[in-house]
Amino acid sequence: MGEFSLILFACVGGDASLGKRFRPIATFYVFCNSSYESYLHFANVGTGSFSRILFRPRGNMSSDYVKIARLNDVHALRERLEELDLELPVDNEALTASAGSPLAQPIEVDGVTVGNRWCIHPMEGWDANRDGSPTEYTLRRWRNFGLSGAKLIWGGEAAAVQPDGRANPNQTLATPENEAGLRQLLATLNDAHAESFGSTDDLLVGLQLTHSGRFCRPNDKVRWEPRIAYHHPLLDEKYGIDPEDDSIVWTDDDLHRLIDTYVESARLAQKVGFRFVDVKACHGYLLHEFLSARSRLGPFGGDFEGRTRLLKTIIDRIREEMPDLIVGVRLSFFDTVPFKTSTETGRPMDFSDHLPYRHGFGVDESDPLQPDLAEPLRLVAELKEAGVALVNLSCGSPYSNPHVQRPAIFPPSDGYQPPEDPLVGVARQINAVRECKNALPEIPLVGTGYTYLQDYLPHVAQAAVREGWVDFVGLGRMVLSYPRFPADVLEQGALQRRSICRTFSDCTTAPRNGMLSGCFPLDSFYKELPEAARVKQIKKDLASG
Ligand SMILES: Cc1cc2nc3c(=O)[nH]c(=O)nc-3n(C[C@H](O)[C@H](O)[C@H](O)COP(=O)(O)O)c2cc1C
Ligand code: SF4
Repeated sequence: MGEFSLILFACVGGDASLGKRFRPIATFYVFCNSSYESYLHFANVGTGSFSRILFRPRGNMSSDYVKIARLNDVHALRERLEELDLELPVDNEALTASAGSPLAQPIEVDGVTVGNRWCIHPMEGWDANRDGSPTEYTLRRWRNFGLSGAKLIWGGEAAAVQPDGRANPNQTLATPENEAGLRQLLATLNDAHAESFGSTDDLLVGLQLTHSGRFCRPNDKVRWEPRIAYHHPLLDEKYGIDPEDDSIVWTDDDLHRLIDTYVESARLAQKVGFRFVDVKACHGYLLHEFLSARSRLGPFGGDFEGRTRLLKTIIDRIREEMPDLIVGVRLSFFDTVPFKTSTETGRPMDFSDHLPYRHGFGVDESDPLQPDLAEPLRLVAELKEAGVALVNLSCGSPYSNPHVQRPAIFPPSDGYQPPEDPLVGVARQINAVRECKNALPEIPLVGTGYTYLQDYLPHVAQAAVREGWVDFVGLGRMVLSYPRFPADVLEQGALQRRSICRTFSDCTTAPRNGMLSGCFPLDSFYKELPEAARVKQIKKDLASG
C-alpha cells in the first residue's frame, strides 16, 4: 500500500472564519501513496456550532445511499437527516398559498414586488442556433419557465457576452446581433406566464451574462478553447492545458475590453426589456475563476481587492451607465478541489503538492476540502454596497466537482459515483445560505441545491423561508422534469410523483457528449428524440466499464 501517514486535527473550537454555525470540527485524513483515500464530510448541525465527520470507506456507490423515493413520509426524511447528522427544517405538510404557505408571500426587491418565493435558476440547453438565436427547444424551455408559477426568473440561461466566450457553439448570445432572439425569449416567457397566471406585474425576469473562460467551446462541442485567468495546477492537468501556455491567459488590456462588452450586453438586456442582469460569477466560469487568481500579477489578481476587481468594475460600470437596471450576481459561495473523473466513488485530485491551497475561492487554504466563508461573506457585503440588489448563491463547479454543485444519486458521464449521501450536499448548500442570511440579512438571497429533496422539496423550502434561512428557493433540474412544480405546490399542495426529478443526470450527460440538454427520462418531448437512446447507450457503456 505504500507509505501511510495519519493526521488527525481536532479543532473543537471551530474556525471563526466560517461563521457561527458552519465549521468543520475535525479532519481525518489517511494519506496513501500521497493521495487521499478518504475524506471528510461535514455538516452544519445548527446551534451546537460543530460538525460531524462521516468517514466513507472506498467503494461506495449510489446503491449505498437511501433513495429519497424510498422514504415513506417526512418522518422518514427526518430520521435519515438525523442519521447523517444534518440539520434542515422540515414541515409536516406542503402548504398551498391559500393555506398560508411562506412560499406564496410577496417580497420587495429594489422597489419591485416579486409575487412569491420561487425562483427558476438559469439552465442552458445547448440548443440555440449557431448565431445565438433561439430554436424551438430554447423557446420551449423559456415557455416552461413562464408556466412554472415562479415569480423570479434568474436569467433563463447563461447568455454569452461575446461569441468566443460560449461554453458550446449552441449557447445563446447576449450580443446586438441577437437582439430579436432575446426579445423572442422574453416575450415567450412573459406570454406563457400571463396566460397561466393573469399578469406579469409581479414577475421579475433577468438575463444571465457569462463568459465561459476556462470552459469555452465556441466552435466545436467537444473541443475546449480556454481563456483562463491564471494557470490552475489541478484544472490545467484535468483539462489538458499546457501550464506554460500563456497565450490563453487574459491580458489586462483584454480585460478592459471585456468590461466594455459586459456593459454593452447589459445595455442590450435592458433595451430588450429584462428588468435585471446577473453578472454570473459561479461554476468555474471566467468571473468566478478570477476570484481565486492569487497567483495572477497586476490589477486583476493577487489580494482580495485585485481578485474581485473585474467583477466589481463590471458592476460599477453597469450601475453608473444604467442606474435603472437591477443588478444581481450568481456566486459560487464556496468550493472544493477538483475531483477525478471515474466510474468509481469520487475522489479529490491530489493537492498535497499545492498546500497551502491558493487556487480556490471560499475554500480553506490549509484544508481545501473544507469551505471557508470569510471572503465570500466579505464579497457579498461589498456587492451590496456596490448596489447589487439580489444574490443567488450556488457553489463549486459542475465540471470539476459536480456532486457539490448538483447533488445527485446518479452521476453525469464526466463525474463519479457520489462520495457522500447527496443529502449532505443539499444540507451544505442550504446551511451556507443560512450563514450568509444571518450575517447579511438585508440582501435578498436565492438558495440552490433543493432538487435532490424531491417529494420533500416543498416541506423543506417553505420551512427554510419561514425560518428566515433564505428569501427565494431556486429550482434547477426539478423544473426540467416538472415545469409546473411551483404552481402545483402553491395551488394543490400536492405533486405528480411521476414528474419528480430523480437526479438521473441525463440533462448533464447529454451535453457532456455533444448533445442538447433536456430531461430525457421523464419529459415525453425529449424521450422521443434520438438523443434519448444515445444517452441510454452512453450510460450502459459506462456501467459495463
Ligand atoms: C442542464 C443544466 C443547465 C444549467 N445551466 C446553467 C446556467 O446556464 N447557468 C447557471 O448559473 N447554472 C446552470 N445550471 C445549474 C443550475 O442552475 C442549478 O444550480 C443546479 O442544477 C442545482 O440546482 P438543482 O438542485 O435545483 O438542480 C444548469 C444545470 C443544469 C442541470
Ligand atoms: S435528466 Fe431529468 S430526472 Fe435526470 S437530473 Fe435531469 S431533470 Fe432530473
